[in-house]
Amino acid sequence: MKFFVDTADVDEIREIADSGLLDGVTTNPSLVAKSGRDFIEVLAEICALVPGPVSAEVAATEADGMLAEAERLLKVADNVIVKVPLTWEGLKACRSLSRDGVGVNVTLCFSAAQAILAAKAGAAYVSPFVGRLDDIGQDGMALIGEIRQIYDNYAGTLNTEILVASVRHPMHVVEAAKIGAEVVTVPPKILRQLVNHPLTDKGLAAFLADWEKTGQTIAGK
Ligand code: E4P
Repeated sequence: MKFFVDTADVDEIREIADSGLLDGVTTNPSLVAKSGRDFIEVLAEICALVPGPVSAEVAATEADGMLAEAERLLKVADNVIVKVPLTWEGLKACRSLSRDGVGVNVTLCFSAAQAILAAKAGAAYVSPFVGRLDDIGQDGMALIGEIRQIYDNYAGTLNTEILVASVRHPMHVVEAAKIGAEVVTVPPKILRQLVNHPLTDKGLAAFLADWEKTGQTIAGK
């Protein structure tokens, strides 16, 4: 499973990238607004920090406008993935970009029917938003299962990867992995939560206390 981080905060990305565990980044207009930075500048910095795919979302709503914006975004770096919304216009833009060999992330996916269309349009990634579905009382993870089943029916002919988005807690990551989604994009805070377990902390404290009693050192022997 690939791990993307869902943020436009360059400092956060740098810190997480240092772990060597990061495969890519997703941004969206709200995350860019939160960063308070110029989009193109921040995108260039992110692309330089992370060799993997970096999703950059268009703001136009018509396919022609999306394609013009995509052209600008693609000039920023080779690892830019163009992110388009799951609308007819977004699908048109996706079809055209994917025919030209451009990687496209079709975002704001909330149904299996939409995911079928994204794949049909040649998307490299489809982003179903599990947290936002949970928020309205629907089962976000059930959608991931449905899309997995559908895409598996066409294995070998479909190259669209399921990118689980709107992740709200570590169990979303675990469930996505159990279902076999190729990618999760995770806010930095949740990525850090993944490592936590109270028994790990307790066990480590006990090991360190016992080690101290031995009076030994390892390095420098
Ligand atoms: C995905 O690419 C989106 O940026 C993101 O996961 C949206 O999540 P949210 O529902 O927390 O805003």
